[in-house]
Amino acid sequence: MYKIKIVEPKSKKEFEAYYFLRWQVLRKPWNQPPGTEKDELESQSIHLMAVLNNKVIGCGRGHFITSKQAQIRWMAVAEDFRKNGVGTEILKELEKRIFAKGATEIILKAREKAVSLYQKHGYEIYDDGEIMFGEIMHYWMKKIVIKEKA
Ligand SMILES: CC(C)(COP(=O)(O)OP(=O)(O)OC[C@H]1O[C@@H](n2cnc3c(N)ncnc32)[C@H](O)[C@@H]1OP(=O)(O)O)[C@@H](O)C(=O)NCCC(=O)NCCS
Repeated sequence: MYKIKIVEPKSKKEFEAYYFLRWQVLRKPWNQPPGTEKDELESQSIHLMAVLNNKVIGCGRGHFITSKQAQIRWMAVAEDFRKNGVGTEILKELEKRIFAKGATEIILKAREKAVSLYQKHGYEIYDDGEIMFGEIMHYWMKKIVIKEKA
């Protein structure tokens, strides 16, 4: 396991590195131009990145749809660092922050290759998503947390 730090991007430079990784992993391989790695919810989202020796090697984002339901999007780990638990660390920290803010359910639209990772963390498929860039099948998944009554 790498000695990574999971932190929120704060400065302009950090946000640039964070969005660049998103683009590099999730958009560039399908010839999508810079800019396509952002949506309209950035300003109201929880942003997290994994940093190793001052380099951003992973990222993930959470946003609220309602006060009880949140969505995780834009999960990406740089190719050379995958399968070492970096994605898991980002996911866990995002979940922690989302549930701490009162959500009882997290949904996400997983690429086919990422489905097993989310299943390991309690997410279940509930619907088919679209096929993106003509080849990537997506599945809608959700995780529900039942809160114990005090
Ligand atoms: C999906 C993605 C974010 C996962 O990141 P990651 O850092 O590789 O995630 P993890 O290392 O925590 O887990 C990935 C796998 O490695 C395994 N793993 C974790 N730590 C490990 C270790 N130390 N040794 C071996 N395997 C390990 C996990 O069990 C998991 O297995 P699975 O794929 O069979 O479920 C990354 O693969 C990625 O960016 N993919 C391309 C973009 C993408 O698909 N994004 C998701 C959109 S929904």
